[in-house]
Amino acid sequence: MNYESLLADRTRLMSANAIREILKVVSKPGVISLAGGIPSEQSFPMDLMANLTEEVLSEYGTHAFQYDLTEGFMPLREQLALLLAQRGIDVPAEDICVTTGSQGVLDGIAKLMISKGDKIALEAPTYLGALSAFNPYEPEYIRMDMDDEGLVPESLEYTLQNHRVKFIYLVPTFQNPTGRTLTLERRRAVVQIIQKYDALLIEDDPYSALRYRGEAVPPIKTLAPDHVIYVSTLSKVFAPGLRIGFFAAPEFIRQWLVLGKQGVDLHTSTFNQALAARYLAGGHLEHHLPRIIDLYRPKQEAMSRSIEKRLPTEFTCSPSDGGMFLWVSGPEGMDMEVLYHRCVDKGVAFVPGKFFFTRENEGAQTMRLNYTMADENTIDLALQRMASAIAEM
Ligand SMILES: Cc1ncc(COP(=O)(O)O)c(C=O)c1O
Repeated sequence: MNYESLLADRTRLMSANAIREILKVVSKPGVISLAGGIPSEQSFPMDLMANLTEEVLSEYGTHAFQYDLTEGFMPLREQLALLLAQRGIDVPAEDICVTTGSQGVLDGIAKLMISKGDKIALEAPTYLGALSAFNPYEPEYIRMDMDDEGLVPESLEYTLQNHRVKFIYLVPTFQNPTGRTLTLERRRAVVQIIQKYDALLIEDDPYSALRYRGEAVPPIKTLAPDHVIYVSTLSKVFAPGLRIGFFAAPEFIRQWLVLGKQGVDLHTSTFNQALAARYLAGGHLEHHLPRIIDLYRPKQEAMSRSIEKRLPTEFTCSPSDGGMFLWVSGPEGMDMEVLYHRCVDKGVAFVPGKFFFTRENEGAQTMRLNYTMADENTIDLALQRMASAIAEM
């Protein structure tokens, strides 16, 4: 049978995620991977899981195994309202919706809002999973400049002056892939601009809880509630396999997103939501989060030290106070994809930065390094191997 002919036109636009292809190579024995983007299994609160499961059975009984509201399991939404209040976002539980990972929100937004040729403004570089969600709907991407303080507001203003964009997509805190954070001053500038042009912003915030030093910066949602869809997740602070994401959106958009989700999965797993509700209600996040931070902070510091000590001075690293990644730029003209292949031969892998850009030929001299998986000594060994590959180039 000619299966190829059965595919819809849009399906051809679902290209394989470049990082997945890279991850296949790095599963070779002996290769240290700084390429992944996943939490360490040591960050999962395994000591709690049996008790939480028992609590789910005794508190919710059959409800935990029944169909439920598309918007989400109410006890979890109540806890998420408290969590968001801690971040300065004041929304009632009824206005928060639970999704199958925050990836589920990005997919829902794409389905709801993008028609072929619609313009979407995003940071260069940006989160690859957002592009995977948006691509099948054939948008045109308008890339905006970033520096070490995050999105450059003038670039946003220029974009909105010259293009009618459907929405702006940002990861403003400890961005994937750069680890950068948009400063408070710039957040205020961004808010003024989106209000001036009456533009909608998607604020994707999976990492803000993973702060290793410095003061928290308020979400953009707190500064412009009517212009922002706030998207977050428990993947980095509980367990990603449970697939618990959530969002707070203006009511009109929320209702459409809920309608869209009905057609996708009716609702996110009730049992998993119930487990998450017990995790939050029991105050476990407050106790466990410092353990996750204590796990990752030394890894991040070890990686920063090794980059500085091992790599040539032309290699610079964007400052970052949290999240899961460091972003390194090499000398102009260097192609990190070439370095990548040499590094794999030497037993270390990373993701060449060019994959995170929508414009071809951008970011060739950059790379993303993940520090959540390896221990400190292994991270240093990885950077030594990388340095030796660089020296040979
Ligand atoms: C910026 C960003 N958004 C969304 C996600 C998706 O997370 P999840 O679907 O597990 O909530 C990730 C995962 O790495 C991410 O880095």
